[in-house]
Amino acid sequence: MKSRLIPLLPHETARSEWNHPIVDSRLSTLVASKNFVIVARSHETLRALFNISHSNMKAIAVRPGTSNSVHVAELDKPSVSDIPDDRGVLVRVLKVGVDATDREINDALYGNAPEGYDFLVIGHECFGIVEEVGSAVKKVQPGDYVTCTVRRPGGSIFDAIGRSDITSEEEYYERGINLRHGYLTEYFVDDEEFIVRMPVGLKHLHVLAEPMSCAAKAVEQAFLAQKRLQVWEPKRAWVTGSGQIGLLSTLILRLRGMEVFTIARGAKPNLKSEISEGLGSTYISTAEKSLQDLAAECGKPDLIIEATGSSAIAFECMEVLGHNGCIVWTSITGGQRKVDVPSDSVNLNWVLGNKLLVGSVNANFRHFESGISDLALGEVTYPGVLQKILTNPVDGLDNYAEMMRLLVEDKDALKVYVNVADG
Ligand code: BGC
Ligand code: ZN
Repeated sequence: MKSRLIPLLPHETARSEWNHPIVDSRLSTLVASKNFVIVARSHETLRALFNISHSNMKAIAVRPGTSNSVHVAELDKPSVSDIPDDRGVLVRVLKVGVDATDREINDALYGNAPEGYDFLVIGHECFGIVEEVGSAVKKVQPGDYVTCTVRRPGGSIFDAIGRSDITSEEEYYERGINLRHGYLTEYFVDDEEFIVRMPVGLKHLHVLAEPMSCAAKAVEQAFLAQKRLQVWEPKRAWVTGSGQIGLLSTLILRLRGMEVFTIARGAKPNLKSEISEGLGSTYISTAEKSLQDLAAECGKPDLIIEATGSSAIAFECMEVLGHNGCIVWTSITGGQRKVDVPSDSVNLNWVLGNKLLVGSVNANFRHFESGISDLALGEVTYPGVLQKILTNPVDGLDNYAEMMRLLVEDKDALKVYVNVADG
């Protein structure tokens, strides 16, 4: 029987997990000619089996389940042909941002390795330059600056319609977070469906595209959900938290013409108050004024975007929201904290005030696009303010220990990111 190349594994996800075109083609040949299938759980086994040489690249990884296990790992350099149907986009990584999620993954509170690996490459906020594309790719070309979405489809109807950000499955796939390797490495490849172009004029805001996409989704969710009211024109918005999601949400709400209060712990003046005020928001320190006092003085908000990382504040927000208002919770709280809640009064007020609470996580391609548009509008409306968020560059993947130190110990480090390569 003449050998020919056929897809080894009909299931796309499984196939791309082999991640090696030579392995795929040799196995395919075997399957076609000898009518048997080889199943191996690890890439090492496959490589040994077929004596395959490959070029390696460095990656920063953790061993999920083991606390403080961040280390340098090796991955095969990916290739456009790893993605089926000529839809591959090979990206040279220039910068990767890290956030509290990476810290929690390194604390072993969160995250799982992809099948076949005992490590997970971290980093889900990427910025890079396209190096090569498959012949079917239309959206980007070599030399384009890009970022890439985080979540990959599972099996629900939402995943099937391109909305993996609202998957109804308990298990989800996120690059750099859960069951898929991230971007803290030298190259990555992905389907063009997940690649998002960054305008060259926003190159200096690089890794903000991903957190901006999450802020864009959070605000969008409020407006979509509030359609229940037939008319909703929020005038006063609060943003609790002045980390990257808080500040970027502040920007979006200001661009929508709202009076915005950005509320955080630190007394002003500080960098976060400077950025908030640079975006035309009023910065309030909870060290100086409680949420209750602020509501009594300036009126209850129509909308709260909650991004403090504190479940206690998330619940406290429920006590101050105005009638017909909406709260969007975005904080990811991996701990076990418990707080007392005045449940009778919250329950009563929420019922009598027709109030709404929405949880929002992740973002899909469209949220990246609208977030990037708002970054551009933000740059021309409040010139030079947004880049102040990018506080702590770390040079090179080898400096991963410094990256983690800044993330864990430096309370003033608003945004830590790694300069992986020049470009
Ligand atoms: C990421 C999101 C992700 C979420 C939950 C966040 O840090 O930015 O993309 O969905 O963590 O894993
Ligand atoms: Zn994140």
